[in-house]
Amino acid sequence: MKKIVYMDAAASWLKNQSVIESEVGFLANFYANAGRGVCERAANVDKTIADVRQNVAEFIGTKPANIVFTFGATDSLNRIVNIIQNTEPFKNSKPVVAVSDLDHHSARLPWQALSNAGGCEIVVCPLDNNLNIDLTRIPKCDVFVITSMSNVLGVAQDVESIIRIARQKNPNVITIVDAAQLVAHNKLDVSKMGCDFLVFSGHKIGADTGVGIMYIRNPENFNPDKFGGGMVNRLPGICSDSAQF
Ligand SMILES: Cc1ncc(COP(=O)(O)O)c(C=O)c1O
Repeated sequence: MKKIVYMDAAASWLKNQSVIESEVGFLANFYANAGRGVCERAANVDKTIADVRQNVAEFIGTKPANIVFTFGATDSLNRIVNIIQNTEPFKNSKPVVAVSDLDHHSARLPWQALSNAGGCEIVVCPLDNNLNIDLTRIPKCDVFVITSMSNVLGVAQDVESIIRIARQKNPNVITIVDAAQLVAHNKLDVSKMGCDFLVFSGHKIGADTGVGIMYIRNPENFNPDKFGGGMVNRLPGICSDSAQF
């Protein structure tokens, strides 16, 4: 193999041999459909998924029930817009959504699209002279999109303080942390941050492409945005457990 010096880690992570071997081994020897089989192979796959969910939960300081697997940070960020839009009190109202110029387009465009359709009002949170979120000018808002580390500047934001101040202005504000870059460099602790949602992609921290994480602090407070798959034994609307996410 040609030796290269890889300097594009902010975009994606080249895969470790252990990841490649584990995936190839699974596909070649242990593959089964997840979430719907009762044979030993299928049960082993279900157990592996439960173990991964547990590992991810521990990785960011939460419980497995708060972890939703997605296709990546972009997918998580888009789904959060749908989830919030599907849930009271925002179903028939027009939330004020704070964004900032630190945001990646994946965090900004879904809200911009909703705003263009008349579904929300966007306010831009000012940055200070060092291009960090200005803690003295946090706007009062219903939803706050917080990019915890910009992919352009690479500076960690003081997420805990940002959320604390946003809650002083509106105790019901829903806070969304885009940790797609931060997760590669810092230990995350969602309980310390106090955010309502947090997202990141697997491919930036060594996992395969096409997997991502959406953390939800109170899944019982939000309506699911996806239905079907796996085994279904309850009708939507009758239950709102996080397994539906
Ligand atoms: C800060 C930030 N948010 C979101 C994304 C989107 O991640 P993905 O393309 O893996 O969905 C990126 C990707 O570069 C990013 O750097």
